[in-house]
Amino acid sequence: MYVRSFCDSDGDGVGDLGGVRSKLDYLQWLGVDAIWLSPTFPSPNVDWGYDVADYLDVNPDYGTLDDLDALIAGARKRGIALWLDLVPNHTSIRHSWFREHPEYYVWADRVPNDWTSVFTRTSAWTYDENRRRYYLHQFAPGQPDLDWWSAAVRREFERIIRFWFDRGVAGLRIDVAHALIKDRELRDGAEHMRDRPEVLDIYARWQEIAAEYDPKPTLMGETYVPLQRLWRYAVPLDLVQSFDFVRAPLRVEALRPIVEQVEANLPGRRSPLWFGSNHDHSRLATRWAGGDERKARAALFLLLTLRGTALLYQGDEIALTDGVVPSACITDVADPPRDPERTPMPWTAGGGEWRDPWLPLVDTSRNVESQAADDGSTLAFVRSLIRQRRELADAPYTTLPSEPGVWAYARGAATCVVNMSDREARHEGRRLGPWETAVF
Ligand code: GLC
Repeated sequence: MYVRSFCDSDGDGVGDLGGVRSKLDYLQWLGVDAIWLSPTFPSPNVDWGYDVADYLDVNPDYGTLDDLDALIAGARKRGIALWLDLVPNHTSIRHSWFREHPEYYVWADRVPNDWTSVFTRTSAWTYDENRRRYYLHQFAPGQPDLDWWSAAVRREFERIIRFWFDRGVAGLRIDVAHALIKDRELRDGAEHMRDRPEVLDIYARWQEIAAEYDPKPTLMGETYVPLQRLWRYAVPLDLVQSFDFVRAPLRVEALRPIVEQVEANLPGRRSPLWFGSNHDHSRLATRWAGGDERKARAALFLLLTLRGTALLYQGDEIALTDGVVPSACITDVADPPRDPERTPMPWTAGGGEWRDPWLPLVDTSRNVESQAADDGSTLAFVRSLIRQRRELADAPYTTLPSEPGVWAYARGAATCVVNMSDREARHEGRRLGPWETAVF
């Protein structure tokens, strides 16, 4: 859930925690059992909350700590777990640590290497006038990287995660989880900037802390690494976000091998994780489906019937497409900007629930109100799949033989089939229209 765009409870054009709370009944009705909130911490919003100025409080744009407590309690009452988005790789340059504890960050007397910022692809080092040294930032200059070789930094974060687990937070999505540790000698080459084995020790320690709580909070990593390097992250982390699936086209030959590799390699006790959209990537209804609702449903069918955990991004359940954001309204620091996948959630056909929203809401033709009243809608389709998936539970995945363009798989005793083509197809004597799906 991208809080800023989910639901606005006070009419200031910005989504907030009160808004999330007001939609808990909807989420329960849909069958959601956990919510991952985008960062809720105070932030100067260089990167919309991914630049944290205080890890122990709530951004006043979204509410107060009391509002967050009320949201946790309200969600729990409905059987919904609440997860926060923890950003440990970097802070905001306005975090008090940057002035009071410069030793928490990564410094050099001169630009030491060729590392570049993910957002701008220019040098990842910026000169700080006060310290007269360069500091590292993998993202924007307003997001200095922490030095995770520092025992003091580790202690700070152990305190931070306990603070939230004590309040009933049931999980953490760990931002940039693959990149906390950098080469100590700051050698040239992007490979020295991320995906180093020592990072796994940090999460093993966090799991020890999580194990003190009942139920144990879930740790989900944002792990931008190639599939062959993903498995080791699944040793200390409960869930690992892989981006190969999101980046592949909506074709059997592209997606099925990824699922087969995950099934073959993920440590046995871990659940595969499937998603097709998030706040950093074009929404699946646009990227995979080009707006075609049949294709969006086929993609949603895959997410919800493959073995494992499914993440839906707000709006996926109504096949929401990317918003149209004129260049004068672009807010994002990244190039290309991510505003189109962050436009407000349309709740009604009129869109009147958003007054002067922070990003434009142009197209409300796909909205919750209309689809909730229509048994044939994508929303109804998703809701019934969520119910059905409870029966599939953890039944094993097995690829079944099928004709080209069709993906068929067994989940235990059930057979799932998706016609991922524009032609009519057959599977075991059944006729499937273009992009039609079935479970039997
Ligand atoms: C992650 C977030 C993204 C953010 C970046 C830097 O990739 O998902 O939105 O900009 O980290 O924190």
